[in-house]
Amino acid sequence: MKPRIVDDATLRALAERFGTPLFVYDAATITARAAELLEARDAGRGFDVVRYAQKANPNLSLARLLLQRGCALDAVSSGELRRALALACDPRDVSYCADLFDDDALQLVTRHPFQLVAGSPDMLERYAAAAPPRRDIALRINPGFGHGHDAKVATGGEQSKHGIWHAELARVVDRARELGLRVTGLHVHIGSGSDLEHLARASAAVVEAAEVVRDSLEMLSCGGGLPIPYRDSEVRFDVPRFLAHWNRARMRIEERVGRALRLEVEPGRFLVAEAGLLLARVLGTKRSAKSAFVFLDAGFHNLLRPALYGAYHKLSLVGRDAEPREPQVVAGPLCESADVFTQEKHGRIVARELPRARAGDLCCIHDTGAYAAAMASGYNSQLLAAEVMLHNGRARLVRARQTIDQLLRPELECLE
Ligand SMILES: Cc1ncc(COP(=O)(O)O)c(C=O)c1O
Repeated sequence: MKPRIVDDATLRALAERFGTPLFVYDAATITARAAELLEARDAGRGFDVVRYAQKANPNLSLARLLLQRGCALDAVSSGELRRALALACDPRDVSYCADLFDDDALQLVTRHPFQLVAGSPDMLERYAAAAPPRRDIALRINPGFGHGHDAKVATGGEQSKHGIWHAELARVVDRARELGLRVTGLHVHIGSGSDLEHLARASAAVVEAAEVVRDSLEMLSCGGGLPIPYRDSEVRFDVPRFLAHWNRARMRIEERVGRALRLEVEPGRFLVAEAGLLLARVLGTKRSAKSAFVFLDAGFHNLLRPALYGAYHKLSLVGRDAEPREPQVVAGPLCESADVFTQEKHGRIVARELPRARAGDLCCIHDTGAYAAAMASGYNSQLLAAEVMLHNGRARLVRARQTIDQLLRPELECLE
């Protein structure tokens, strides 16, 4: 079983001080995951750049912590580029990986020397026409297959909107040359929450693709997609074996191109998911003929993954681990049937073995550092939760709870 990131006494104190629902992040866990990637070595070589995919959790304090630990940043939108600028990052160290430009993103990459990772041929036309400060670009390829923890997060294959189709690559590289752009990088990201087998297959696909850009290639990016164990029964991802696959790919390409290549990795989930928990208050319970329901003050407006993917998150009741368990369905407060944390794929509601919950209990939803606060909404006019970060046991607010005034003001100002 994984060690708890926060003890029960601290959780009670945090709920008292900051209220619930509350996201709690542990800086030490984030630091440990970053070190695991930064320090990984295979045949003496490691990842040259560990690039944090901000989309997993864009909180500025969390991103700054990863920058301080030696990571760089990836952005997938103009908002994330602006977050990197707000953190005073050198734009040359920040990548913009997308399949399109909106006007703001195009303006930003033409004003600052961000590293462009283009996922559509169309982006090259717009980029070159905008006279950017950088002419070297990377291309994101779609290797013909994708894989993730759910079909909704696979980002490769014929039906995926992401990346440049592998058979189109040579034509796109030719067009880049005509436009005066140098393709110095190849990037592949097949999906989120993948596994070693598929991530290794992606490395083989890049070896093939590299032939087309052998004259100018300087960098390979393995993308993200590194999984974490959400269930106690799941094993940890084998970082050294993952690196070994990619090092083999890198070395095969290096032999052909005759120069050393930089290897980048671009995880989101792996760096932050296990560092977070969502702390919620039990508001009430009820029974039907078949089920016992537990209602929390957190719902899918805080954590969408169970409703969207049928994703599993471990649950626990603070201070009650030793008590006997019984099956309970754990739900949120929203007026929506999908607002249930204990559900599987296709909305199949299931019960979870937990101590019998009572109103006032505190409930932890574990491994919610990634794709939780990042995907939050204001559905049912719920307010965005507060977020705190723990540094050596001391809690610091890293996002204040949204207020009802912040929710209503933009509309009140528009009322006639
Ligand atoms: C381009 C890109 N890079 C990196 C990531 C991070 O993925 P993960 O959080 O699974 O590591 C994503 C997410 O799907 C992505 O779209």
